[in-house]
Amino acid sequence: MQTILVTGGAGFIGANYIYYLLEHHPDVRVICVDVLTYAGNLSTLAEALKKPTFTFYKDDICDREAIFEIFEKEKPDCVVNFAAESHVDRSIDNPGVFLTTNILGTQVLMDACRKYDVARFHQVSTDEVYGDLPLDRPDLLFTEETPIQTSSPYSASKAAADLLVQAYHRTYGLPVTISRCSNNYGPWQFPEKLIPLMIANALHDKPLPVYGEGLNVRDWLYVDDHCRAIDLIIRNGTPGEVYNVGGHNEMRNIDIVRLICKALDKPEELITYVADRKGHDLRYAIDPTKIHEELGWLPETPFSEGIEKTISWYLENREWWETIISGEYRTYYEKMYGNR
Ligand code: NAD
Ligand code: TYD
Repeated sequence: MQTILVTGGAGFIGANYIYYLLEHHPDVRVICVDVLTYAGNLSTLAEALKKPTFTFYKDDICDREAIFEIFEKEKPDCVVNFAAESHVDRSIDNPGVFLTTNILGTQVLMDACRKYDVARFHQVSTDEVYGDLPLDRPDLLFTEETPIQTSSPYSASKAAADLLVQAYHRTYGLPVTISRCSNNYGPWQFPEKLIPLMIANALHDKPLPVYGEGLNVRDWLYVDDHCRAIDLIIRNGTPGEVYNVGGHNEMRNIDIVRLICKALDKPEELITYVADRKGHDLRYAIDPTKIHEELGWLPETPFSEGIEKTISWYLENREWWETIISGEYRTYYEKMYGNR
């Protein structure tokens, strides 16, 4: 593989993936396309921008002309699509842009892949396409055969994109793969998501807004493990296949928030129970047997180690997230949490 085009690389997982590629495949040219929405941050890619093998384009994946021009010029061998609107709460507030970016943007990219004979299109999807699992059935896990049954406009848009990706494989023979990963955590995650939001609020001695009773369960995976899974899939995965990615690390939200309080030596009295999210998925849990058996993937970072690394990163990189939360994020926060 000579040239990999990564979309959404100025966001959380995409940026981690770009650094993963630059470290593990220094011979590969990495092209990043990101329109820099509120969630994209070029400063995140500062170190990558110093490398001669890295090129950045500020463009929208929905902009057909711009995307085709980039493909014409760069001739990627592989496209990894991270670009998306990714926050469930925002999708409940304003679904439209989720449908545009997550579905139509994916279509534009796949059309470009067809025209320029790209050898692999990889869609970064989510376990949220499977809906949720009951809290009292720990024996149930999402497999690749679990029916798609979405809860939020975000997950519906990701599921629609997955179906389109599979249709492009069946109809046009486009060599696609899809990964459906559980919740990620790690450096550069935008502070609207649970873990960085709680770290940032705790460091400011602000209330820690737990939705409902905090009993919802997520299956947390350190972001580097996700990056390694994607890298294995694009190299050794079978075209047309879906791979679930997760590390058997189910935790209740309230336990994560308590752990963050303890790690930062902040009182649990900061925890404030607020109105629940509409349609709030109860539990996500991935069965990663397929990727383990077919590609030999296993998570390498235990949660205790990953969360320590993540908290340290937020302590050492205050400027990065303080800049974000002092900008338009304040308006978002007031709207979402002001009267909750
Ligand atoms: P993020 O919100 O941090 O980053 C998204 C990036 O996409 C941003 O840099 C943004 O500027 C860019 N983008 C948005 N719209 C665009 C457009 N129209 N054109 C070009 N760029 C655009 O998201 P993330 O958490 O890094 O998630 C990346 C992908 O992984 C998403 O597809 C998401 O659905 C999926 N995913 C995320 C998680 C998770 O826990 N965060 C878990 C599983 C799957
Ligand atoms: P989030 O990080 O938004 O990821 P997702 O909804 O995609 O799983 O939320 C993770 C869990 O944390 C989810 O159950 C909602 C909950 N949550 C809170 O309790 N308070 C918050 O302020 C946020 C952002 C999330």
